[in-house]
Amino acid sequence: MTLLEIRGLKRGFGSKTFNTRLEVLKGVNLKIKQGELVALMGPSGCGKSTLLNIIGGLLRGDSGEISITHGENDYKYGTINPSKVVDVRRNGVGWIFQDFHLLEQLTAQDNVALALEIKGIGKKEADRKAREALIKVGLKDRIDFVAGQLSGGQQQRVAVARAIAGSRPLLLADEPTGNLDVKSGEDILALFKELCTDPMNPISILMVTHDPMLATKADRMLLMKDGITAASNIKDAWGVIE
Ligand SMILES: Nc1ncnc2c1ncn2[C@@H]1O[C@H](COP(=O)(O)OP(=O)(O)O)[C@@H](O)[C@H]1O
Ligand SMILES: [Mg+2]
Repeated sequence: MTLLEIRGLKRGFGSKTFNTRLEVLKGVNLKIKQGELVALMGPSGCGKSTLLNIIGGLLRGDSGEISITHGENDYKYGTINPSKVVDVRRNGVGWIFQDFHLLEQLTAQDNVALALEIKGIGKKEADRKAREALIKVGLKDRIDFVAGQLSGGQQQRVAVARAIAGSRPLLLADEPTGNLDVKSGEDILALFKELCTDPMNPISILMVTHDPMLATKADRMLLMKDGITAASNIKDAWGVIE
């Protein structure tokens, strides 16, 4: 079942008049199935974050279409102004960043619950869902720890819990292991796999990474080059970092 479909997505920056125009995405076509873990690679500045930002409803494309289909929800956007795609951000897509973006003075529980309350979920329900998500990412014994006192790997797990707590079907991870040691990075990948293969509620993950070893653990690798994404294998992936 296709969860995310992108057709002919283009996006550029700058002005033609002033000769500063840069076409970054030149017609991206991409499908991700429910339960798929997809790694996106490509040299710095090729447009990976731009693509994620558009999928996440933070930036609009110049042309093209995006659809996310999940249960009764069907989001169609791509060129719509970000102020009009609130639904995608609230219920469609969750984010994981390289530097976690947690509130370090708050507990793991409060970091996750706060994100749910912002979505409009009541405090009691938010607390319950936060707990459930933290248990799911393997942090049962760290629920009431202050986030800033957790290890990097644990902080990233809190961020994963926050991203999945609202039952969002798609997770976008922009270099999620960039600040982690090798072992913690591998653990995060293992967690991603678990979440994608959850028999009850499999999510899909699109992950940007510069690490070919992690990329090979995904179901599929994509290489972004010349403004489009194409299927890739491990040999191409090593070429990216050489
Ligand atoms: N808001 C913006 N304004 C102007 N140029 C931008 C903007 N965002 C990204 N770019 C440019 O688009 C290109 C792709 O950037 P980005 O998507 O961040 O690449 P990546 O994530 O692959 O490193 C870069 O040349 C970058 O400078
Ligand atoms: Mg980037």
